[in-house]
Amino acid sequence: MTAIAFRPRLLAGWATDASRDDLAAHLARHGPLPRLTPDALIARVDAAGLRGRGGGGFPTAAKLRAVAAGRRRRPVVVANGCEGEPASHKDAALLDCAPHLVLDGIALVAHALGATTAILAVHVGAADRVREEVAARRDRVPVRVEEVPGRYVASEETAVVQYLSGGPALPTTSPPRPGERGIRGAPTLVDNVETLAQLALIARYGPAWFRETGTPDLPGTLLVTTGGAVQAPGVVEVPAGTPVRAVLDLAGGPTELVQAVLSGGYGGAWLGAPAIDTALSHTALREAGSVLGVPTLLALPARACGLTQTAHLVRYLSGESAGQCGPCRFGLPAVADDLTAIACATRDAPAAADRLARRLGLVTARGACALPDGAARLTRSALHVFAADLRDHLRGRPCGGAAAAPLFPVVHG
Ligand SMILES: Cc1cc2nc3c(=O)[nH]c(=O)nc-3n(C[C@H](O)[C@H](O)[C@H](O)COP(=O)(O)O)c2cc1C
Ligand code: SF4
Repeated sequence: MTAIAFRPRLLAGWATDASRDDLAAHLARHGPLPRLTPDALIARVDAAGLRGRGGGGFPTAAKLRAVAAGRRRRPVVVANGCEGEPASHKDAALLDCAPHLVLDGIALVAHALGATTAILAVHVGAADRVREEVAARRDRVPVRVEEVPGRYVASEETAVVQYLSGGPALPTTSPPRPGERGIRGAPTLVDNVETLAQLALIARYGPAWFRETGTPDLPGTLLVTTGGAVQAPGVVEVPAGTPVRAVLDLAGGPTELVQAVLSGGYGGAWLGAPAIDTALSHTALREAGSVLGVPTLLALPARACGLTQTAHLVRYLSGESAGQCGPCRFGLPAVADDLTAIACATRDAPAAADRLARRLGLVTARGACALPDGAARLTRSALHVFAADLRDHLRGRPCGGAAAAPLFPVVHG
């Protein structure tokens, strides 16, 4: 087992006494919020190299600068804690363990942008506890906690913005991006809750401290959700750049032989067993054919059929389509059908494999949001990582696990 010598930053409360930090505990741990001018805050975030933790990894300082520069109306700040990805529980864990770090991050960016409206968006059912913590504070910009439906695409930023503007929780075609025109037409900064908590640490402890761990292109720590064939699935905090194998070890290690790991959530990509020492960073995972995305690692046991499990996941994603873009609405069910034919090694499987190659090209980059791209990426990676199984399935010889039920949650929210 790999030992990681490292003190949690965001989840320090859990590490020391397994408890949630209320306001008093938070202040005792971190001290009061520093008073920083907008320029000083953005300069610190820039020097720290903070990248968004909501999946895309976009530089946070650049987003802040864009909203600060473009505003003709007072901007709105939205902390995205909706966590629509079924494999991820990191944002819920953070809001449970250290809600005041998130609220500090909101207060800091609201002040820096001159915002008068700040919203913390969470899943339906998750608002009450965090509202108690909000009520304990005296923030200059009061934080409104809003519940967003728990569907996969409802947590995409344009869907959150449309919902908070009184519309349906569905992605909208862009541009304009929320940073230009968001909630009720106001420029809107949407940041993931972990991003804002990391920002609050940077404001207090500075960029040099932040860069003491992580990698040069992804400094700091990551909250990672583990699942599947590991002893203790859950959320762990690790330095960015930690190898996948070491994170699985932190989750108690594999329960049985693991053949592949799904990284980046359901719209992520499989990593074969030879790639298990890949570092958790955007660059290293991309080079290994996968993605960091929302950091999640799902270990697939050797007894399961990777093609069948991928078919279940793509079927789930196709059911989560908002149904408003043709390639997504019609393309994803067709991709799921082809994958199912291959997984079940039906007579149609070879023809389905040919169709699949064409269909994946037709759904990629054709939706208003990245859901179809994620489904296509997941499918492509399965065809690559489980190539030996694919050959057998196309010859009408499915592997033993072909009929297996889903190993990962596929219940619609
Ligand atoms: C289908 C889909 C689902 C998403 N779900 C989430 C989510 O649950 N939480 C989140 O913070 N970002 C999610 N995102 C990314 C957001 O659109 C947005 O990029 C992010 O909140 C920006 O925050 P960051 O810059 O701090 O990463 C999703 C994107 C897509 C395409
Ligand atoms: S790509 Fe799919 S999920 Fe995204 S907005 Fe279009 S129909 Fe909805």
